[in-house]
Amino acid sequence: MASKAAQRVYVFDTTLRDGEQSPGASMNLTEKLEVARALELLGVDIIEAGFPITSQDDFEAVRAISRVVTRATVAGLARCVPKDIDRAAEAVAGAARPRLHVFLATSRIHREFKLRKARGEILRLAVEGVRRAKAACKDVQFSPEDAARTEPEFLAQVVEAVIDAGAETVNIPDTVGWATPDRFKGLIEYLFENVPNIDETVIAVHCHNDLGMAVANSLAAVQAGARQVECTINGLGERAGNAALEEIVMALRTRPDAFGGCWTNIRTERLYPTSRLVSRVTGLVVARNKAVVGENAFAHESGIHADGVLKKRTTYEIMDPKSVGVAKSRLVLGKHSGRHQFRQRLKELGFRLPTKEIDQLFFGAFKELADRKKEIFDEDIEALVESEASTGPEAWHLCGIQVATGTGGMPTATVELQQLGKNGRTRDAATGDGPVDAIFRAMERITGIRLTLRDYQLRSVTGGKEAQGEVRLEALCGKQTVSGRGVSTDVLEASAKAYLAAINRAISRAAGRSVRRSKKRVGKAKG
Ligand code: KIV
Ligand code: ZN
Repeated sequence: MASKAAQRVYVFDTTLRDGEQSPGASMNLTEKLEVARALELLGVDIIEAGFPITSQDDFEAVRAISRVVTRATVAGLARCVPKDIDRAAEAVAGAARPRLHVFLATSRIHREFKLRKARGEILRLAVEGVRRAKAACKDVQFSPEDAARTEPEFLAQVVEAVIDAGAETVNIPDTVGWATPDRFKGLIEYLFENVPNIDETVIAVHCHNDLGMAVANSLAAVQAGARQVECTINGLGERAGNAALEEIVMALRTRPDAFGGCWTNIRTERLYPTSRLVSRVTGLVVARNKAVVGENAFAHESGIHADGVLKKRTTYEIMDPKSVGVAKSRLVLGKHSGRHQFRQRLKELGFRLPTKEIDQLFFGAFKELADRKKEIFDEDIEALVESEASTGPEAWHLCGIQVATGTGGMPTATVELQQLGKNGRTRDAATGDGPVDAIFRAMERITGIRLTLRDYQLRSVTGGKEAQGEVRLEALCGKQTVSGRGVSTDVLEASAKAYLAAINRAISRAAGRSVRRSKKRVGKAKG
């Protein structure tokens, strides 16, 4: 059994270098410093702060980050070119733990077409680069760019030579996301078997995600003995991105059995806040279904899943949301939600209602709403309960409305209602000054109740394009004031509901019944 120290996996974060190279992700100095502080708080071991030779801004950013980071190592990237190395050395000089990261492509395609150099020259330049870096900084890392596509025996030769030249870390990049887990694992094993001085270095891996296998490849390399993983927050990076830090870290933490007990020093409860920060400063939104930090990573809508989670969280969740910094699992109410989930949300919102009443009075209305809206928000639920409650036993029930309107035309509404205790439905139509007025006139024709509208207010109760409209109105029935409220995703339907609620109230009062009875049943618990 390997010692705990031998199972430690160092986390090298390159959000500020490879991540920032991703289109649309550039950050200014203030933002980079904010991210660097967050990365240190997260507990990453090495922060790659930038590529100093590329611009004055990049140089300044690496220099500034080197000054503020106190615990983590700060790395600056350089090609195996003297002026790159000197510039990077200058930029990280102020760091408590500086590192120079030098790289040179080794694959045949890069040697022949990009660099136009033979193997021998590549070998010489790699060694010279490491030596020059070593003269300026004790901690040197070398990366044979496009290693995954490099001939293994040549790669082994390069790795051996740079270790001899003083590289304390040798990183094996899959620069173009070409590797597959078993082959990449095989390549790392090959290096362990064929590089005689490999024990003098830490083997790192740096995987790109072009085929969506960056995390799987990185983890396969850990199984083969790699002990540094290079990754970015939210998987940011060139093209399809780099391996996502949060996924690697949580895979190691959640499945120690699969990864030989390997561990990292990451404070996992900082993962979500750090992800949000990076998303905010880069403007690159995290996909809802992104593993570990996506909005849906701990959300359940399906009735079966939500019911399972309510009974025992681990039935459908392999990670505790708190362990990654998410306060709690989210039970999303939608058309797949079941009664249990609906009741639970009512309880959380402070409604104390008997189960039978919830099922009979509100669950049907909720399902009806869920068919029309993708996601149901708390305000929707509140509006629904209050609206259902305030209607009380209805003298008239709204079955449907149909409205024809347009500029210059004559707004016409057809309304269908059903009277309490009667079998058939009654339908009538009317015209009006506008579509709402036409609905009201049609209702008056059917019910025989004439109201004088005194106040009509329409507002949106939830956000988004599927927002619910709430209509509140006040009207006079003879000398008495009656009010009504209606909620719907369709404002004309909300108006119809509100007007009918007022008519029902007027009928109820005339019959001497108290509408308060139903209100009392629907008490919102205090506190
Ligand atoms: O993808 C890559 O090869 C790199 C190197 C500079 C490590 O980013
Ligand atoms: Zn890269």
